Amino acid sequence: MAAQPPLLYAFGNLAIDRAAAIIRAGGIVAVPTETVYGLAADARNAQAVAQIYAAKGRPSFNPLIVHVADLAAAKAIAVFDDDALALAERFWPGPLTLVLPLRPDAGIASLVTAGLDTIALRVPAHRAMQALIAASTAPLAAPSANMSNGISPTRAEHVAASLGARVPLIIDDGATMAGVESTIVAGRTILRPGPVTAEMLGDVLPVMPGTTAHVSAPGQLATHYAPTKPLRLNAREAGPDEWLIGFGEVAGNDTLSLDGDVVEAAARLFDALHRADASPTARIAVAAVTETGVGVAINDRLRRAAHN
Ligand code: TXA
Ligand code: MG
Repeated sequence: MAAQPPLLYAFGNLAIDRAAAIIRAGGIVAVPTETVYGLAADARNAQAVAQIYAAKGRPSFNPLIVHVADLAAAKAIAVFDDDALALAERFWPGPLTLVLPLRPDAGIASLVTAGLDTIALRVPAHRAMQALIAASTAPLAAPSANMSNGISPTRAEHVAASLGARVPLIIDDGATMAGVESTIVAGRTILRPGPVTAEMLGDVLPVMPGTTAHVSAPGQLATHYAPTKPLRLNAREAGPDEWLIGFGEVAGNDTLSLDGDVVEAAARLFDALHRADASPTARIAVAAVTETGVGVAINDRLRRAAHN
């Protein structure tokens, strides 16, 4: 996290060059889209994505939307059926997010999808976000650029007021156009209403409003990866038939972070859970994780996994 207040750069070559350099180095930057300002990181870099959660102070992990340059880039990450193709061709670039099957070899960090085998993708229409994707040559994971529980930012000043020194650089390109987050569609179901309305979608496909209404409270989504095996918390050592996920001085079959670093632990969390699930043991045990910073989100996620 930056020690200095964030630098506001007006949109232009300098802003994009500086921001892209931060993204390529594994950092985070705030960037406008046509909906709200996003807090972006390279979606292939788990440590970078973990910094998004750390900066937002999110008490849990939500799967994030990944922003790409065009349909070809999206197809390299996810599998499109005819419905998805029709929506993408009609509404991209624009404020529509599609939830699609993730290609296992896409190289997306599992923290982005919260361990799911689907991914939310969109091609943004905003010149700043487009330029940043092009200059960084990275798919960009980006939730709204505000502290958890804060209001979504539609101006650079909102981002600065909310995140302050937690973000090193903000690309300022004035007020966003839509001001509400993108419409999210999975199959023919609207998971989150947004600027692309049901009527607009209906011109392309028969869509339904989400029956399991989109839950905006973080971590409340039913769409989280959960291990299938029983999971025990605050373990100091492995019991019979347990796969131990360590942290800090508690060593295990695997570790979230040998150094006890919560950002590193967040970056590794879902991969570690998948490995534990795939291991030959019947049960999973996890060492206590420090309840500070993004560690709060890790513990929230682990407690939910333990009660499944
Ligand atoms: O307009 C927007 O979409 C903004 C700008 C920055 O692009 N971004 C945004 O991202 O709102 P975020 O991370 O706040 O919204 C992510 C939401 C999650 O809450 C979840 O509902 C949904 O996208 N989501 C992401 N991946 C999903 C998945 N695999 N399955 C179902 N829902 C998913
Ligand atoms: Mg948000």
